[in-house]
Formats: sequence, C-alpha cells, structure tokens
Amino acid sequence: MDRVARHYARGGIAPRILAALRAAGIDQVTPETLAPLDQFHARGVDATRDLIAALGASAGEQVLDIGCGIGGPARMLAAESGAGVTGLDLTQDYCAAARTLNHAAGLGDRVTVVRGDALALPFADGTFDAATCQYVAMNIADKALLYAEARRVLRPGGAFALSGFAAGSAGAPTYPTPWAETAATSFLATPAATRAELLAAGFAIARFHDATPALLATHAALRKRLRAEGPPALGLHVMLGDRIREQQRNSARAVDEGRLIALEVLCRKPRF
Ligand SMILES: C[S@@+](CC[C@H](N)C(=O)[O-])C[C@H]1O[C@@H](n2cnc3c(N)ncnc32)[C@H](O)[C@@H]1O
Repeated sequence: MDRVARHYARGGIAPRILAALRAAGIDQVTPETLAPLDQFHARGVDATRDLIAALGASAGEQVLDIGCGIGGPARMLAAESGAGVTGLDLTQDYCAAARTLNHAAGLGDRVTVVRGDALALPFADGTFDAATCQYVAMNIADKALLYAEARRVLRPGGAFALSGFAAGSAGAPTYPTPWAETAATSFLATPAATRAELLAAGFAIARFHDATPALLATHAALRKRLRAEGPPALGLHVMLGDRIREQQRNSARAVDEGRLIALEVLCRKPRF
C-alpha cells in the first residue's frame, strides 16, 4: 500500500494546476476547465461523461468515488448530476489537492474528500446510492475485498461503475506505466476474471464493455494533434511531471499490442 501511495505522491499539485490555468488565460475554475488536468485515466473526460450517464445519479443522492485521485471525476459528477459526492483516496497529496480544487471550483460543500483505503472503507453499510472506481483496481491485488467493500457500502439496488485496464492476451506491459513503477504494484486481471470476481462479490452485471476501440481512436487523435501542434500546455504532466510522458507511451503501446484492455463495467447490488 505504501509503495502504491509513493508511486503517486507529488507535492504542490493544486497551486501548479491553478497557475497553469492562469498562464493559459483561463480565469474560471470549473470541472470543465480543469478537465485536461485532473482526469487521471484512459479516455479522460469522455470516459467520465460516459460513466456519469451510465450511473444516472441525481440530486439528493450520495455517490462514493473510490480512488478519487485529485477529484476531477468527483467534481464533474457533482456538478452535472447534482448528487453529493465523497471521494476517497490513499494518496495524501491527492486528497489535499482535491480539497483545494473543490473549493476553487465552488464545489467545496458538494464534494467531500476522505483519505482512506479502498480495502477498508470507513463508511457504514448501505451509506451510498452509487459508487464509482476509475483506474484504481490495477493497483489492488485483493479484488474480492475491493468489490466486497464497494458492495457493502451501497444501498440495495445501488449502482457500481468500475473501469480500468484489464490484462490482454499478449503478455505484460512494459513499466513504468501511469499506475505503477514496476510489476510489483500492478495487478492486472483478465476481463473474464473481473467478471467472475464481481459476480462472486454479489453484483449483478448490467453492462460489460470493452472500450479499447474507443481508446485506440482517442490515441490516434492525440497523436495527430501532437504532430500538428506539439505537446499541449495543459495536461497530466502539470500534476505528475514529465515522467508521465514515458508512462503514457508505455501504456499506449501496450494497448496497441493487445497487452491492455480498457474495461468499463456497470453493476448493481441486488435489491434482495
Ligand atoms: C490512476 S489514478 C485514478 C484517479 C481517479 N480515479 C481518476 O480517474 O482521475 C489511481 C488512484 O487510485 C488510488 N489508489 C490506489 N490504491 C488505492 C487504495 N487501496 N485505496 C484508495 N485509493 C487507492 C491512488 O492513490 C490514485 O489516486
């Protein structure tokens, strides 16, 4: 767990992000303007919008974002659905950045941030109407406990949107990747194993989607823009430093080679 948090830890994130927005001439801090900088997963804000639509949360509901990072998806979900959102993350620096950015975006009263472990959620049974977990499970060996904890804190009938890289059939990716320095903190399950673990945890699966073709299209568009315009001023490198570029190159190549599959799943905790 410590090794995972060490991989992600990075000080001074929120001031760097706010300064980068100002330098780009953007004076409004909103989930929209932050989106190039705070969506730490494949397919960026497009994936979060799909997740929000699939979840169908509404005003008055409470949603948990497990492994919320610096809170980009949580802020967008709160702003677009009207739901109250709790973001939980292991990495102290990310929790601090998430809180500052929530306030800067005027969402401090709608998005709460808790530092904690996805394997021991500090919430009572049935607390949430819905839960999300984007690109976190690759860091977690004990998927059975991760899914059991997500199910436990949901009310009966509650939705759980899970996304992340699954193991493809062509072998392991080259490290470092955005989620792990080495294979020691990377736990990729196949799509079949993911489905089996979710069912074993007591979820009903509503949608089990391979988003790899959409991700390949995103990568192609990004490469085209990179060739035409050079590296963008606003991107995950502001938060993570330049080493993210090598990590992203490795994961993009692994997707091209069939080593990684982008999985997007919607499940539900049965009512009875
Ligand atoms: C690739 S980032 C994704 C962040 C966010 N979900 C997003 O999509 O922008 C993975 C996140 O999972 C968090 N994480 C990894 N293992 C965790 C655990 N056991 N409990 C809570 N958070 C964890 C990391 O700290 C990191 O913020």
